[in-house]
Amino acid sequence: MGSRTATNYWIDLVSLLVMVGLAVTGGLMYFVLPPGTGHSHTLFGMGRHDIGRIHFYLAVACTALLVLHLVLHWSWVCNVTARTLGMAAPSRGAQKAWGLGLTAGVVLFLAGGLVWTTGKVEPYPVADSPDGYRGRGSRREGHGALLPRENDERGASPKRPRGGRHGRGRNAISAAP
Ligand code: HEM
Repeated sequence: MGSRTATNYWIDLVSLLVMVGLAVTGGLMYFVLPPGTGHSHTLFGMGRHDIGRIHFYLAVACTALLVLHLVLHWSWVCNVTARTLGMAAPSRGAQKAWGLGLTAGVVLFLAGGLVWTTGKVEPYPVADSPDGYRGRGSRREGHGALLPRENDERGASPKRPRGGRHGRGRNAISAAP
């Protein structure tokens, strides 16, 4: 194998393994340790948040590998894009300029999006909530998360969502006693 081919081979093989790891850890968080089990259940000594941390590191690795994959095939991407748009094949300089432009655009979009959305964060709208749901901060995470709320007049309401935005109650460890 030529060295360039070998590089691509190993990057793509590691990417596959990282993606399988993402699917495994994501599947565990979705089906086996769903939201609400974070402080009350473990799997092989790991809680939901430990698995979430592994999932997050794998996501960072996956993103880095994807960027590397794109960089190594950038000439292909530029040439196929130009052909698709009916343009002449771009020079090496033009390919570099497209790459730098795209990188700057994505970085600005991400950084700007984070700054903009940070300014949009609001407390959960208690009064406006038609079903009286009080938001994540008031949920009983952990030991109480799977239990019905006592002394809560809203607890009896069949309209109260059991899992907030995650819809707890759909997955494996969800049946409240
Ligand atoms: C089959 C593939 C995947 C499945 C089943 C999956 C599933 C999940 C689930 C269930 C959560 C937890 C959400 C919650 O807290 O309710 C999660 C969180 C997350 N996922 Fe995935 N995911 C997958 C692939 C990916 C990929 C490809 C990326 C990015 C490259 C990614 C990035 C993340 C991140 C950053 C979080 C937050 C992690 C944290 O809690 O610290 N996931 N995912």
